[in-house]
Amino acid sequence: MKREHWSGRVGFVLAAAGSAIGLGNIWKFPFITGVNGGGAFVLIYLGCILLLGLPVMLCELAVGRRTGCDVYGAFQKLKNPDSKLAPALGWMLLGAAAALGVSGAWGYSVVAAAAGGLLLRFGFGAVGMVCVGAGLAILSYYAVVGGWALAYLWRGFAGALEYNSLDGAKAAFAVFIEQPGLMIGCQLGFMGLCAAVVWGGVRNGIERWSKILMPLLLVLLLAAIARGLTLPGAWKGVEFFLKPDFSKLNAGSILEALGHSFFTLSLGMGITITYGSYLKKNQSLAGASLWVIFLDTAAAILAGLAIFPAVFAMGFDPTSGPSLLFEVLPATFHRMPGGGGWFWSGLFFVMLSIAALTSGVSLFQIGVAVLEDHFKLSRHRAIVVVLAVVSPVGMLSAVSIANWNALEALQTLVKSAFHVQCAAGTNASSFFSMIDFVCSNWMLPLTGLLTAIFVGWEWGIRKFDRELLQGDTGWFRHRFGDWPGMFRTLNFLVRVVSPAVIVLVFLRTVGVL
Ligand code: PHE
Repeated sequence: MKREHWSGRVGFVLAAAGSAIGLGNIWKFPFITGVNGGGAFVLIYLGCILLLGLPVMLCELAVGRRTGCDVYGAFQKLKNPDSKLAPALGWMLLGAAAALGVSGAWGYSVVAAAAGGLLLRFGFGAVGMVCVGAGLAILSYYAVVGGWALAYLWRGFAGALEYNSLDGAKAAFAVFIEQPGLMIGCQLGFMGLCAAVVWGGVRNGIERWSKILMPLLLVLLLAAIARGLTLPGAWKGVEFFLKPDFSKLNAGSILEALGHSFFTLSLGMGITITYGSYLKKNQSLAGASLWVIFLDTAAAILAGLAIFPAVFAMGFDPTSGPSLLFEVLPATFHRMPGGGGWFWSGLFFVMLSIAALTSGVSLFQIGVAVLEDHFKLSRHRAIVVVLAVVSPVGMLSAVSIANWNALEALQTLVKSAFHVQCAAGTNASSFFSMIDFVCSNWMLPLTGLLTAIFVGWEWGIRKFDRELLQGDTGWFRHRFGDWPGMFRTLNFLVRVVSPAVIVLVFLRTVGVL
């Protein structure tokens, strides 16, 4: 079967931006920017994107396009069977697993031991496996939140989100997430939508829908900004969000920016490798990545401008996560003068659903690509298999939020394995919070780190450089093609800076720093 390709640069950029622009842009970026010094933090964030996000993104794109296969196959194809590095890293992970086990954190010990064991057994091919596992695990709980967005979209337009106070909105959200059947239904609905988009294939499904949904998202964002900014008192929100305050910046903000830059660009789980594998050889990787980065950052800033002016104008306090989206915002929209709260709520949840859907689709496609390329399944069969594997895990997340006590055996296991903090607005240390915590804070840094090390030290930095210039006839080759300084800088970033920085961020999230 002939492999599909994006129709051109616009198709790829919009699909990749669709993956990058997700819940993180809407519920996390605006808030961490606000509390870390506004515009000052945006500068730091842009620096982090260039220092960490861009190099790792280029690595993933180069690996994807070079091999033209799914993330598992990509690492298999490029790995060196006699690698000394893979076993060395494998033993290091096993050592870490032992240390973690001794310290009593046996859940993490199992994660590290599994990764180490796979590296010893499969060499760098293991990275691809961990990527697929992480991607599908993330999809399982991303679908739960995506399902909430769909349900709130419906409720918004139906006029069911008219809360007179924040407490009312909070109580309603608590009742909402405590219904196991409803939670499962929402999650399945979201998975079904992802499947429907992927059903059409790369070009007729993912690309076509991204080309419709991403421009729509922009228009809706602009409409929401226009409404928010014209409210009396809106300026306080803009000030909170963007006014530079360098005194609020500290080492913690820098690490926060680094961690977020990685997550927001959907790096470290093979999405960019998978999407890159559908790129034609005559496209510029550098140009495409800069576009994706630009769109992702622009969407995050626009989201902040759509949210905080309205929140401040209506006299609420800024928050982040589910409590911002599902509690503060409905209350804000309802309080807006001139009525039409139902309309703005509905509109906002359309945006949220679009953002979540295009990200969910990219996670879905990781699994589909592996099943198509490696197991030679037809696309439609592959979709059914992904649904059948991922949905049940998602149901565990859904039920664990609704009624964690219903899953008693699992609860005991999770409690003893991971001492997980509760995610805002959800049950303390539920299966949902655990899988989110383990994926975002352990698996992503791990796969990202191994990808950068693989490209920098194993596959070969020269091949990476060559792949970057391949197909580039534009400004990148023109400006930098003959300038070794550019490649020296980029290679240094890939080989040394990115791995070091990922380790730093990791140590901070696990509380060592
Ligand atoms: N990049 C997405 C966001 O900002 C998050 C995401 C991560 C999406 C991983 C898909 C996969 O929300």
